[in-house]
Amino acid sequence: MSIAVLPGLEKRLVDAKLADLAGISRQYRPLLRRAVGTSLPQAALKDLVRRTADTVGVRVTVLLVVSNRDEGITVEPGTDSASERDISLDFPVAVDAARTGRTERGTEAGPNGRIGEVAEPFAFRNPETGRRRVGHVVVFSTPLRDVEASVAVVERRVLVAGGVASGLALLAGFLVAQGLTRRVRGVEAGARRVAAGDFSARFPVDRPDELGELARTLDDMRRQLAELDSARKRFIATASHELRTPIFSLGGFLELLADEDLDSETRQEFLGQVREQVARLSRLAVDLLDLSKLEAGALELRPERTDITLLARRVAQEFIPALVGHDSRLELRVPGSPVEAICDPERVAQVMRILIDNAITHTPDGTDMVVSASRRDGFVRFGVGDFGPGIRRTMLPHIFEPFITSDDALGSGLGLAIAHELAERMEGELVVESQPGRTTFTLELPA
Ligand SMILES: Nc1ncnc2c1ncn2[C@@H]1O[C@H](COP(=O)(O)OP(=O)(O)O)[C@@H](O)[C@H]1O
Ligand SMILES: [Mg+2]
Repeated sequence: MSIAVLPGLEKRLVDAKLADLAGISRQYRPLLRRAVGTSLPQAALKDLVRRTADTVGVRVTVLLVVSNRDEGITVEPGTDSASERDISLDFPVAVDAARTGRTERGTEAGPNGRIGEVAEPFAFRNPETGRRRVGHVVVFSTPLRDVEASVAVVERRVLVAGGVASGLALLAGFLVAQGLTRRVRGVEAGARRVAAGDFSARFPVDRPDELGELARTLDDMRRQLAELDSARKRFIATASHELRTPIFSLGGFLELLADEDLDSETRQEFLGQVREQVARLSRLAVDLLDLSKLEAGALELRPERTDITLLARRVAQEFIPALVGHDSRLELRVPGSPVEAICDPERVAQVMRILIDNAITHTPDGTDMVVSASRRDGFVRFGVGDFGPGIRRTMLPHIFEPFITSDDALGSGLGLAIAHELAERMEGELVVESQPGRTTFTLELPA
């Protein structure tokens, strides 16, 4: 900073000083003009020069211009307002003024610092040659000590201010860096705890800056991980419970069957129970496997051009015995022309089975149902509706979660979870609408 500012400042101060001198020179030129180079006695001239110098407070020096063939133009000291021993200056501006015939300004290095000088040429006409020639130069000069002192003071101040500012900047930088480091450490510690499975860790969302934003995002992530973690734990707990129940019951029946005294009717009844539990267990195993494959994204789809109408008709036919047993009718509402989509027919049939099975299982005997297929707006829709009592309002928002069931004895609550995952996996959607007297599940697939 000082490098850029101070030379400019010094030059401006010197220029101002020289301008002052030039002003004085302009003012006193006429007075001195009438005295210098005339027949005025030396003592009178000296007196005038002294008085002028005293009035304006600068040194006034009259110099004689000497024109020399070898050295060119030089000046010689004449009358001076200063005492004899102070005259040791060369006055280079006087030589310039003698050459140019104009007022000249400049500085010169004196024994005690720089001197500012303004030289005023006094010309006269040579009566022999008729040409004008500079005979004398009057120099107004003053030391530039105060300018140099001012510059030195400013320089010191600038240096001190610069030092203080740098110190403050360093201190502020240090404090900010320390604060940042502490906050980053806090975030890092939180991330470590979450990585180690401790979801109670908190990220310090203390300020609305970038770091605060990062902490907020990480905190959201922590919350989602915590939810996923508890969902996973719930799933495993429920799944193991679901698996344990039929296995215990199988163990019990097998022990009872080992009794030699059992009559054949009771034995047949127990064997029936064993078969039922084995069937339930294998259904459960298949369902769990399907669901875990779907959630891991490992289920492979084999898409092909499929007529949804035909598929719906075939799946509905599989349920004829169940419908007879349930004493209900199934109406197929499909258009005359095929409703085609590119999809995996096996997986679509699986969703259809889950929905029709539910409409039979979770409605009272004699409840009729409607199976429909249609195409609209680039989607094919497959629907299963029934006129049963509907799904409880509190249960409806959770209906697609695993193990949600109203019927412990019959189902494991995995059907709709699998159907929902399958729909998503096929880039479609499974939606439900339910109220007493009318429940409809609709599978929507891109055609
Ligand atoms: N058509 C329906 N009518 C009434 N309730 C239904 C219907 N479909 C599904 N539900 C309810 O949704 C629950 C979950 O169904 P699902 O996931 O297939 O499991 P599950 O059939 O093994 O109970 C059922 O227990 C039942 O309460
Ligand atoms: Mg079911």
